[in-house]
Amino acid sequence: MSIRVKRLHPLIGAEVTGVNLSEPIKQDTLASLKAAWEEYGVISFPGQLITDEQQVVFSRNFGDLEIFPQADNRSAQIPEIFRITNVAADDQIRPINTSSALYSTLIWVWHTDSSYRPVPSKGAVLNAIEVVKNGGDTLFANMYAAYEQMPSALKNRITGLKARHSFLYSRTLRKLPPLEQPVADTLPPVDHPLVRHHPDGRKSLYVSATYMEQIIGLSKRESQQLIHELMTWATQDRFVYRHRWQPHDVLMWDNRWTIHVVTPFNHGVERRVMHRTTITGSEPVRG
Ligand code: SIN
Repeated sequence: MSIRVKRLHPLIGAEVTGVNLSEPIKQDTLASLKAAWEEYGVISFPGQLITDEQQVVFSRNFGDLEIFPQADNRSAQIPEIFRITNVAADDQIRPINTSSALYSTLIWVWHTDSSYRPVPSKGAVLNAIEVVKNGGDTLFANMYAAYEQMPSALKNRITGLKARHSFLYSRTLRKLPPLEQPVADTLPPVDHPLVRHHPDGRKSLYVSATYMEQIIGLSKRESQQLIHELMTWATQDRFVYRHRWQPHDVLMWDNRWTIHVVTPFNHGVERRVMHRTTITGSEPVRG
């Protein structure tokens, strides 16, 4: 069986068929998948009925896997599975005013995964187990294009600047109580450049509103204004692919040059269950 790759958007995203992710992937197929992942930034595999164990095996073809810091978002059986869902472990929808329900709405803010780590994630694999009918789409934006097409005046303003990214900051966006100290101690803030230099010489914008607390060297107000300006620039429709989920879609994306967000949905009513594996990065964000 050979794979077929269909472009979904001029700048980002492709659909891949002709591969069964529940089975071991042959070396030549894996090479084609890696090439498609690199070229399109986001690849979708429709109609894949995979277990958590199979997702972990498939994801390991692309690198080691991260463990999400908060225990209540991890699968109890397989710690590499990060449960992105409004459904609790008892299979009931979480009441919307609870901390865990509010936490689950942080995916409604644009981000690249794990930008709070000194070496952020390389990419992620997401298995759509239950999807919603209204909202709940995932939007992906191409940060090479956002940087390359940026007006020179804005490019000049951000050259050499770094932003502080913090897991603890993300919780303040939903006014959540601080994490327990032993977990918080493992997540100190980190500074990353706003312009990421890739090993092949290309540059992309590196922004992650969920975690980006402050641009270093600017006042709080200037920093908030610049973050807002950059996010508005980076998420224009022309840079964005919208994925409308079907059950059993599996998507994988590159966290080094794409950002994503989920469109809001009625999270007290409709069930949305997605399982993510997160591929560990291999290099720090170079400026
Ligand atoms: C994520 O933000 O990593 C999850 C995206 C989604 O649930 O569609």
